[in-house]
Amino acid sequence: MKIAIIGYGNMANALLNGILSSNDNIVSDSIYIFHNKKNDTYSQDKCIFLNSGQACNKKFDIILLCVKPKDIESAINENKNIFEDNQVLVSIIAGITIESIKKTIEKKVSVVRAMPNLCAIFNESITGICSDDSLSSDKKKYIEDIFRTIGHLKEIKEDEMNSFTALFGSGPAYIMYFIEALIDSEEFSSISKEDKSLLILHLLSSTSKMLFITEDIKELRSKVTSKGGTTEAAIKTLEENNFPKILKKAISNARRKSLEISK
Ligand SMILES: NC(=O)c1ccc[n+]([C@@H]2O[C@H](COP(=O)([O-])OP(=O)(O)OC[C@H]3O[C@@H](n4cnc5c(N)ncnc54)[C@H](OP(=O)(O)O)[C@@H]3O)[C@@H](O)[C@H]2O)c1
Repeated sequence: MKIAIIGYGNMANALLNGILSSNDNIVSDSIYIFHNKKNDTYSQDKCIFLNSGQACNKKFDIILLCVKPKDIESAINENKNIFEDNQVLVSIIAGITIESIKKTIEKKVSVVRAMPNLCAIFNESITGICSDDSLSSDKKKYIEDIFRTIGHLKEIKEDEMNSFTALFGSGPAYIMYFIEALIDSEEFSSISKEDKSLLILHLLSSTSKMLFITEDIKELRSKVTSKGGTTEAAIKTLEENNFPKILKKAISNARRKSLEISK
């Protein structure tokens, strides 16, 4: 398959690294990258970097759109001549619907929307993916293989995209916020902040490993929360202060925001 990428920032970089470092030899042809940086044309590692597709006469099967939402129109206009019927456009742009991409492109293309998260940088993304019905099954599988190079993949319906974004797109920041609060707690402040942070990260990593082999997380937590013990005292405080309710509200506000942005 011949692949082009429009926009070369954090996410495109993560995707490209994932594709190139995959053992599955996903691409045999060079990948073209249109990055919008004036007079900056070079090739490296099966990649050809060009300012735009304006003077490019190559044909592409798949074009990945990796610009910010505000730049989608300029990115499409500046690369107009590389779009043609029967291509697949893969957009990772938050909040831009399949329908609106099809309208803007004005060609008979199939569109895939994918929502990776920040952990794509370490090939540990949780990516939600949906496509329009016109996508053939072999191309669908090929595109899924591309996103598997940067982590885990979940096929979703387009109307679940806002929910998915609220939970998994913003998810890393919720976990970071919780970790920050543990680090900032007044307990065990006799050691340096760096040492405390490292211990808390080990706590996160070991707990997460344990949860992967646990069938029922709530049941396990109840088991380790002894009646009248220290953990119970802490959990009781979190519950009395509506921690679960606040978190639910925070996530539903993220979903609402995602919906608002997509309008
Ligand atoms: N970062 C995340 O965690 C994340 C997660 C899921 C989805 N996304 C989505 O992924 C997309 C990219 O995010 P990002 O974090 O990678 O952004 P980014 O680092 O800002 O990358 C976007 C790149 O697109 C370039 N660009 C702008 N206009 C262009 C044009 N006309 N032609 C070609 N390139 C152009 C920008 O160049 P200039 O700097 O010169 O403008 C920039 O290098 C966004 O739509 C975002 O919603 C991001």
